[in-house]
Amino acid sequence: MILFKSIKDLQKWLESQRSSGRQIGFVPTMGALHPGHISLINASRQDNPVTVCSIFVNPTQFNDPADFEKYPITLDKDIRLLEEAGCSVLFLPSVMEIYPDGPKARMHYNLGYLETRLEGFYRPGHFQGVCMVVHRLLDIVQPNHLYLGQKDYQQCMVITRLVELTGIKKVEVKVCPTLREADGLAMSSRNMRLSAADRQTATVIYRCLLYIKENLAAGDLSLLMQAARGQLEAAGFRVDYVDIADAHTLAPVSQWDGQQPLVALVAAFLNEVRLIDNMLLT
Ligand code: PAJ
Repeated sequence: MILFKSIKDLQKWLESQRSSGRQIGFVPTMGALHPGHISLINASRQDNPVTVCSIFVNPTQFNDPADFEKYPITLDKDIRLLEEAGCSVLFLPSVMEIYPDGPKARMHYNLGYLETRLEGFYRPGHFQGVCMVVHRLLDIVQPNHLYLGQKDYQQCMVITRLVELTGIKKVEVKVCPTLREADGLAMSSRNMRLSAADRQTATVIYRCLLYIKENLAAGDLSLLMQAARGQLEAAGFRVDYVDIADAHTLAPVSQWDGQQPLVALVAAFLNEVRLIDNMLLT
C-alpha cells in the first residue's frame, strides 16, 4: 500500500493508473477503522484494480466540538488493517491540504429537506460539512466508484444528492450493507467509547429495529414508533429519534399502505456517546 499525504503526489500516481486504463474505487473514512470500513475496501477491490482509502477527521462536520476532540485516532492499526485488506493507496491529508483557505464554507449545498430531517435536524450543519469534504475529496481522487455504508443511511442519500448537484463526472455511488457485531450492534468507531455496561445496553437499538420490522402492519405507524422509543428509554437511552420513513426519499410515513418501501432509523445517546442505526423494513 502506498501512503500519500500530498494531493499533488496522489494525483500524479492516480493519473498514471488512469492512463493505463485502470478503474479507481474510493472509500472515504475518518479512521478508527473496523470490519465495517474494511467491507467497503473489499467491495471496491472486487470492482476496481485500484482502491483508494482516505482517512481525514473532518472538522467541518462535527456540530459538537467535544465529539471532534474525542474522535478516536488509531492510525497504526488502521494502516495494518488496510494493508491486510489489500488496499492500494491510503490518502492521509492534513487540514491545510484539504482546506487551504481554512475550514470555512465556500458554498451552500441545496440538500432540500434531507438537511432538516432526522440527522439534519439534530446535527445542524453536519451535512454541509460532509458535502464540503466529500466534494473536495472527489475532486482530488476522481474515482469511478464511491463506496459508502448503509449504516449512515441519510449520509448515503446526501452524498448521492451531492454527486447530482455538482455534476461530478462518472462517479457511481455504491451503498454497501451494514456490518454488525455478533449481537447485532452496528459496528462503529464510536462503539469503543462505550463503557462495558453501555456496550451491553447498546444492542437494544438493533433489537428495537427488529421489533419494528416484525410488528410492521399497514395503517397507523405512530404506536409502533412510540413502543420502540419506549424500549430504548427503558434501557436508559436518551433518544433523539425513532422514525419510519420512505426508503427512497426519507419522507416521514405515519400511515402505511402496505406497499411503500420503508426504512426505520434510530439515533440515541448512551451517556455521551451518540449511536445511529437503521433497517430496511420491506
Ligand atoms: P466514517 O464514520 O469513518 O465512515 C466511513 C464509511 O464507512 C461510511 O461510508 C460509513 O457509512 C461506513 N461504515 C461505518 N460503519 C459501517 C458498518 N458497520 N458497516 C458498513 N459500513 C460502515 O462517514 C464518515 O466516516 C464521514 O462522514 C465521511 C463520509 C468519511 C466524510 O467525512
